[in-house]
Amino acid sequence: MIAVAITGASGPLLGIRLIEELLNSGEAVYAVVSEAAWSVIAHELSYRKAGPAPLAALLLKRGKASSLKLLKEFDPHDLFSPLASGSSPFGAMVVVPCSMKTLSAAASGYADSLITRACDVALKEKRKLILVPRETPLSAIHLENMLRLSRAGATILPPVMGFYSGPKTIGDMVDFVTGKILNLLGIKHRLFKSWEEQASAAAPKAKKRGAA
Ligand SMILES: Cc1cc2nc3c(=O)[nH]c(=O)nc-3n(C[C@H](O)[C@H](O)[C@H](O)COP(=O)(O)O)c2cc1C
Repeated sequence: MIAVAITGASGPLLGIRLIEELLNSGEAVYAVVSEAAWSVIAHELSYRKAGPAPLAALLLKRGKASSLKLLKEFDPHDLFSPLASGSSPFGAMVVVPCSMKTLSAAASGYADSLITRACDVALKEKRKLILVPRETPLSAIHLENMLRLSRAGATILPPVMGFYSGPKTIGDMVDFVTGKILNLLGIKHRLFKSWEEQASAAAPKAKKRGAA
């Protein structure tokens, strides 16, 4: 089971795509969306939080997840959720996108919400913690927080494009970052071609050019 938190940084679509791909690959997902993230979702995706399972409702509307049976969502204030305990079975946690506020809380062990508590649990239990911080430019405080978390065992994966995958749309760019996260989680995907696949696809063309 993989825990995914979406916080109030720009780019909640990154977290949504990750959850869709995890569900499509048969992974169980425990998800938490912060209040600030819902504001950004309203602003960037023109979607208003509604109902008792608002993330499931959003995923249903998008229609990109094969099934929602493996999804469980928790209120960000619910410290009784299994994610708040070291005995919970989550193998890895991803915060995507990760706001500078949540980054700072995670870096200092300030576990005042389910998201920051679950980060704390992941670090203390030595589980995989992947943070996708979204801000630019970065202050010395942001950078120090990232270094601190990296030294504590977290992986810092900024949503930075690799242009070698030839992105044409925002969807391609989102899928590139999503694929990078799935790589770290050890989950197979076809969201973009690896450098090796691209190089071998380009090789026959290069040979032909050379022969002409
Ligand atoms: C439209 C919008 C975009 C935002 N983008 C970012 C951002 O990219 N990075 C960031 O650190 N904070 C951003 N913020 C500010 C955070 O939402 C704010 O710091 C919030 O308290 C984060 O709370 P959370 O970490 O609990 O989700 C944005 C806020 C809004 C309204």
